[in-house]
Amino acid sequence: MTITRTFPKAESDKLPEGISIQPRKFTFGSLESEPKYWLGNSKIATHFENMFSLAIPPGERFFIRSVQRYEDQITDPEHKGLIKAFILQEGLHRSAHNEFNSSLEKHGVNVERETTFFEKYIGFAERHMPSKIMLGVTAFAEHLTATGAHSLLDNPRQAELYSPETLKFWQWHAVEELEHRAVAFDLLKVAKIGYFSRVFSALVSIYALILFGTIVFLRLMRDDPTKLTRKEIPNLLNVLRIMGVWPTTKMFLQYFKPGFHPWDIAPPQGLENWYASNETGDELTDTPA
Ligand SMILES: [Fe+2]
Ligand SMILES: [Fe+2]
Repeated sequence: MTITRTFPKAESDKLPEGISIQPRKFTFGSLESEPKYWLGNSKIATHFENMFSLAIPPGERFFIRSVQRYEDQITDPEHKGLIKAFILQEGLHRSAHNEFNSSLEKHGVNVERETTFFEKYIGFAERHMPSKIMLGVTAFAEHLTATGAHSLLDNPRQAELYSPETLKFWQWHAVEELEHRAVAFDLLKVAKIGYFSRVFSALVSIYALILFGTIVFLRLMRDDPTKLTRKEIPNLLNVLRIMGVWPTTKMFLQYFKPGFHPWDIAPPQGLENWYASNETGDELTDTPA
């Protein structure tokens, strides 16, 4: 299954031609038969992505709250509409990732422990971090997810790595990350966050991601009783080769250019292809899963 409901789209001339922010509800078919190593049949790559998926529900709640702290300062209805659509998209991502994460339990992933871990530290950051840094962290995290989205949508060979259901799921998330990539960034001006605070917030995010991400990733690896075999090496190398580490790194680094704006990076061709094969132009209300 895939998109079962669409919500009104937010449009703006701040967005590139052909792009709007449209929240869509993603509904899974069955996750029952999903393979344990759903990414390239690689234990390491799958647990790395599982770690991200586990961080997404508490992480996206942080993103929503960081943006909401500045929402009241926006009076332009069009800009308000973009923020509302961003919040709805991230809320829908949280629900879908919660469902996906629960399905990992059958493979021995301690979903509750890891979710609680991320919630605890992200909640701590939310209580103690200045609003400006929170927003800076979110703007940077949105750049990270949009960078990942380029790699996923603009490379047809990714289909070789994912199972069909996980590919649809991650592609849907990638599409919406691209659509709202500049929402938090555009609030930086409103919050009077200049280049140095923006870069400082990005460095804080990188530090937290490496620290907490590594802890969870190593625990997922340790808890998995399936031994690493020799096959892991070609499988992991295949994932890295297909994902294209260098183009992704180059795009990631663009954030550190003074004067950078997320829409300096043109939307990938794959976005249009996704629209062509997934959008009918009709608004969907809930349809049976
Ligand atoms: Fe998201
Ligand atoms: Fe996002």
